[in-house]
Amino acid sequence: MTKKLFIKTYGCQMNVYDSERMAGALSAHGYAATDQIEDADLVVLNTCHIREKAAEKVYSELGRVRMLRDQRRADGADLTIAVAGCVAQAEGEAMLQRAPFIDVVVGPQAYHRLPEMLARRGRADRGLVDTDFPVESKFDELPRALAPAGPSAFLTVQEGCDKFCTFCVVPYTRGAESSRPVRAILDEARQLVSQGVCEITLLGQNVNAFHGPAPDGAFHGEAPDGRTWGLGRLIRELAEIDGLARIRYTTSHPRDMDEELITAHRDVPQLMPFLHLPVQSGSDEMLRAMNRKHRAEDYLRLVERLRQARPDLALSSDFIVGFPGESDVDFQATLRLVEQVRYAQAFSFKYSTRPGTPASLMKKHIKEAVKAERLAALQDLLERQRRTFDAASVGLRMDVLIERDGRDPGSKVGRSPWLQIVHLEGQELAVGDLVTVEVTGSHPRSLAARLVSSPANPTSAKRGRAA
Ligand code: 5AD
Ligand code: SF4
Repeated sequence: MTKKLFIKTYGCQMNVYDSERMAGALSAHGYAATDQIEDADLVVLNTCHIREKAAEKVYSELGRVRMLRDQRRADGADLTIAVAGCVAQAEGEAMLQRAPFIDVVVGPQAYHRLPEMLARRGRADRGLVDTDFPVESKFDELPRALAPAGPSAFLTVQEGCDKFCTFCVVPYTRGAESSRPVRAILDEARQLVSQGVCEITLLGQNVNAFHGPAPDGAFHGEAPDGRTWGLGRLIRELAEIDGLARIRYTTSHPRDMDEELITAHRDVPQLMPFLHLPVQSGSDEMLRAMNRKHRAEDYLRLVERLRQARPDLALSSDFIVGFPGESDVDFQATLRLVEQVRYAQAFSFKYSTRPGTPASLMKKHIKEAVKAERLAALQDLLERQRRTFDAASVGLRMDVLIERDGRDPGSKVGRSPWLQIVHLEGQELAVGDLVTVEVTGSHPRSLAARLVSSPANPTSAKRGRAA
């Protein structure tokens, strides 16, 4: 009998990828995915720890899941409850103390052990916890068993972070930087393409720190010196896969943007002209306090080099306002940097204290009202830049990858090379088509376009931006 699995995913795209892999691993053990939590025999909460009150939100969600389980038990059935992701990693055993009804707590490096933990849980008299960083790689043990959901897929190439920005929990929850072997990545990419995927987004907490063992090297463990590939080299190799029309990668650290990767932006047309490159602040003093390992000027120079390599490159970033000690002058420097870069879109957050991070111990924490005021001013500027960028798309021809049906019959929704959402009419179009459109209008969160031609073959995107 098949059991039903419901996974709720919080946070970043890496969690989305991990959830898919967990669903794949569990499908081999008789679990079929459902999107109705009421039908589930197993609920997995794949949690995120990046922002304040993350753990509290998980505990209140767990309270609701527990009520559901009590109901199931009253009906003579049962429900198994698992917590995965970065809150599971950070809290570990403490989760069972506070919520003893949890069956399994599993950290991001131990997902391949989940089916076995579920089996063991049946014989144990309390919940199980695994927050180890095992020597074996979860990737080797977690086959991607499920078919991809659409023409665009994520592929994790790197995990963890050694940068230790002083505000961030990631180095503690996801551990040290590690890269998957190139061969495994190429195999997975080819498999995805054979299943109809034509856009792959390479994922990593610090994706451009990727240095995976080269294809003909030792596939497991560290390859000898000179036997690892950087991200630029990997991207060139991926671009050789027939049918893979679009390549993206996220999230990058400015310090790891090497020459090889910059020239890949120049030379590889499949590499989309959009880059999420977080800067966090425009003030050198704040950047230093954040341990970002770059100055504002370094970032601006890097943006210039990237734009020289790929003149139509659009940029996105993350910003934190109200970091401890941030003065008005520091904040003005952030606004100035934004003015200089001109972003296509960006994310911005109020600094929030993460227990265990160096910044949480710093003096001069900023008042909530000041943070709110600065965030509003920054978001106002970023929103104006986004609209300017979208408005400049009107009248242009570009390739759009159709991702789903629109709300109106016959309408379709896709993405531009710059990640903009594009609405278009096209009765004859199918999800996965890569078509050339002309943008006819820009709306607050999307573009409208009309079809110019519908190339049957997705590799036509190798032409890059249509003239
Ligand atoms: N407070 C506010 N924002 C944070 N981020 C990470 N940690 C914190 C924190 N303690 C933001 C950063 C990062 C993004 C993923 O989340 O901007 O780039
Ligand atoms: Fe966190 Fe900084 Fe690492 Fe990004 S680079 S994951 S912000 S520590």
